[in-house]
Amino acid sequence: MTALDEAARALKEARRIVVFSGAGVSAESGIDTFRTEGGFWQRYSPEEFGTPMGLAKLYATDPARLARFLEELVGPIACAAPNPGHQALFELERGVAGRGGALSVITQNVDELHQAAGSSRVHEIHGSLFHIVDAEGRALRRLERPELARIADALARAQRGPFKRSRIARAMLPLIGLPRAGDLTQPRHRPSVVMFGEALAEPAWQRAQDEARRADAVLVVGTSGLVYPAATIPEIAAEAGARVVEVGPERAFEGIWLPGQAGVVLPELVSRVQHLSGGALNP
Ligand code: APR
Repeated sequence: MTALDEAARALKEARRIVVFSGAGVSAESGIDTFRTEGGFWQRYSPEEFGTPMGLAKLYATDPARLARFLEELVGPIACAAPNPGHQALFELERGVAGRGGALSVITQNVDELHQAAGSSRVHEIHGSLFHIVDAEGRALRRLERPELARIADALARAQRGPFKRSRIARAMLPLIGLPRAGDLTQPRHRPSVVMFGEALAEPAWQRAQDEARRADAVLVVGTSGLVYPAATIPEIAAEAGARVVEVGPERAFEGIWLPGQAGVVLPELVSRVQHLSGGALNP
């Protein structure tokens, strides 16, 4: 039996599936990963660009670099669309539901592409670029992709020409409110994205752990599995007896590994599951 057949059988027999996804599932949608060749943390230091203190310092000392980082982060997400990998996960959810089971997605991504593909139960444990919260973490408003695109354009323009600091502050404003005077790590508002050293998003993180404990199978897609506590999800599921299936060019966990790109392997895997479950999709 090939690894693909073994993986399809494990998913077909599972009534409760959790998907654990990372940046790799969105790579074919044009969004950079963090740690692979040319990724974000190869171009920008995570200490400087991935922590509240680092960003606050950048805003004070080199706003143009902060603007360029934010433009490169926000721009691709603003114009991204789900790829065949996201769509296959939605088809898998429909198939499992048709057999009386349930599938939820636990994602480290902040790009809302699982939701855009139709996945109905998504736990964003690292928060979301689309949700703006105040300094206490309370929800303020939602941004949609067109507005994120406008912010990225304004950040690109503000890096050129005079009065950079004030123009960058204005371009950033819908996303990150000016820090309270004196405390540069406390912006008035920001996306709910979880940065290094911060607690994971709740109640997403609690629900993710609960569902991992109850899962019969965990489908890991596109993650290096290096960031904790998020990367405990597949371990929690495996300890509770779940089968582990992993899709990606590099292997990060024990289990059935299907090497390759999410946008190629997931559609193949899901159609194999549908075939085992008696042919075409449930009506
Ligand atoms: N299909 C599937 N996997 C892919 C693809 C693809 N097309 N392209 C790359 N990958 C894999 C890489 O091989 C790598 O294993 O996706 C993984 C991406 O790993 P990272 O860049 O480390 O991203 P991720 O695991 O999501 O990082 C976790 O770290 O910086 C924090 O908060 C950030 O959520 C992020 C967390």
